[in-house]
Amino acid sequence: MSKVTFLSGENIPIEMHKVRMVQKINLLPVEDRLAYMKEAGFNTFLLKNREVFLDMLTDSGVNAMSENQYAAMMQADDSYAGSETYYRLESVIQDLFGTEYFLPTHQGRACENIISQVFVKPGTVALTNYHFTTTQAHIVVNGGTVEEIISDEGLTIQSDNPFKGNIDIDKLNESIKRIGKEKVCFVRIEAGTNLVGGQPVSMRNMREVSEICRKHGILLVFDASLLADNLYFIKTREEAYKNVEIKDIMREMMAFMDISYFSARKLGAARGGGIMTSNKELYLPMRELIPLYEGFLTYGGMSVREMEALAVGLVETTDMDVISQTPIFVEALCNELLAKGVPVVTPPGGLGCHVDAKAFCSHIPQEQYPAGALAAALFIASGVRGMERGTLSEMRNADGSQPLAVMELVRLAIPKRVYTLSHIKYVADRIAWLYKNRHLIGGLEFVEEPKVLRFFFGRLKPLGDWADQLAKQFRKDFGDSL
Ligand code: F0G
Repeated sequence: MSKVTFLSGENIPIEMHKVRMVQKINLLPVEDRLAYMKEAGFNTFLLKNREVFLDMLTDSGVNAMSENQYAAMMQADDSYAGSETYYRLESVIQDLFGTEYFLPTHQGRACENIISQVFVKPGTVALTNYHFTTTQAHIVVNGGTVEEIISDEGLTIQSDNPFKGNIDIDKLNESIKRIGKEKVCFVRIEAGTNLVGGQPVSMRNMREVSEICRKHGILLVFDASLLADNLYFIKTREEAYKNVEIKDIMREMMAFMDISYFSARKLGAARGGGIMTSNKELYLPMRELIPLYEGFLTYGGMSVREMEALAVGLVETTDMDVISQTPIFVEALCNELLAKGVPVVTPPGGLGCHVDAKAFCSHIPQEQYPAGALAAALFIASGVRGMERGTLSEMRNADGSQPLAVMELVRLAIPKRVYTLSHIKYVADRIAWLYKNRHLIGGLEFVEEPKVLRFFFGRLKPLGDWADQLAKQFRKDFGDSL
């Protein structure tokens, strides 16, 4: 993907690939979309794919693969122990990241389980730029707590700070002093910080954080799941790295980290994950847990075909044409929406476009889940499935009270190399319609609320009949159109 200047002066993203395998998708009438949303308990996680037109729930496990990845899958070496496929993957990881030891897992949260079991002791605190849902859950299950030390701008919806995922160095120093370094189980940097809108961390920030961690002897853990987007932003937004090869950027940042892990569902392939370190003392206790939870050390819950695809996919992550596709589409969608007056997180990050539901639905109190309501309304209006990233995605406190999220976002993830520009334009058009009719959207309340990670399969209902009214208005405005 590269930006090509058109004669008209417009900047239109051009795909640097062609599509040679396709999957049919269905756009159903608004009445059906309303009925399916009701069946799904106003939770987009509970929709079936056959009911969805554009699936922008996540970029996890749904990215397009290259012909080289499919070709590699055909020469996988299957065996319980000692598979040649594993050694191929291990050597790609050693070469790309410069780390010595690799532990395979079935996905990212499995890495979090293992890291948390080994390093989180009851009463300890993990300092992080920002939590991710599953990361926090694992830390808490092991008796720890999470403290967020992101720069203030990371939580400002609209900003021109190119690295809103950065850790605030003053906050880091202050937290270590207040908590005491022995009580800090680790500092965690999340690349492409997911819950604040896919916002990157600069190399400079990683370097500063690692210096402080080394000084205090505190473990530095890197969540590299959204590494591809973060690499793109370091290359395009951090002056000192403009002319540095992606592979060199990767190695430099990995050298700052004691332990790195990733969800391969986002990075390089569609399944799997892994933990990397060059420190044997850290490696050995984590290794013990792999056969217990994942599988033997040479597959860790992945199939050999997945490992082959991952090995090729990781190498392709060093190609700017591959890693720029999502960020450039995110930028295109954000710019279209901003031009129509719709509030979105800026600057555009990786992963997806994030609509500011607090501003969009300013008439809905946070206790009534404005981001959840907007995600449901968008599905009814368009068949586009986004994800609530706000109060619904928060865990309840130990006393049962409900923390209100700092930001109420609807994430429209853009899986890598899956959708085209007409899809992006369609999404922008339907959101613009919804924005004009935003007064029709109402709040939600829980009907069934699971105790852990409630957003996954919690069921809700609308307060009043706003969903029916919205569908009626759509039919009135769009006539016969889907
Ligand atoms: N860390 C980050 C930053 C993630 O975004 C995710 C997953 C994980 C860890 C867990 O990885 O799903 O392979 O177990 N994010 C997905 C998302 C679920 O939709 O953003 P996993």
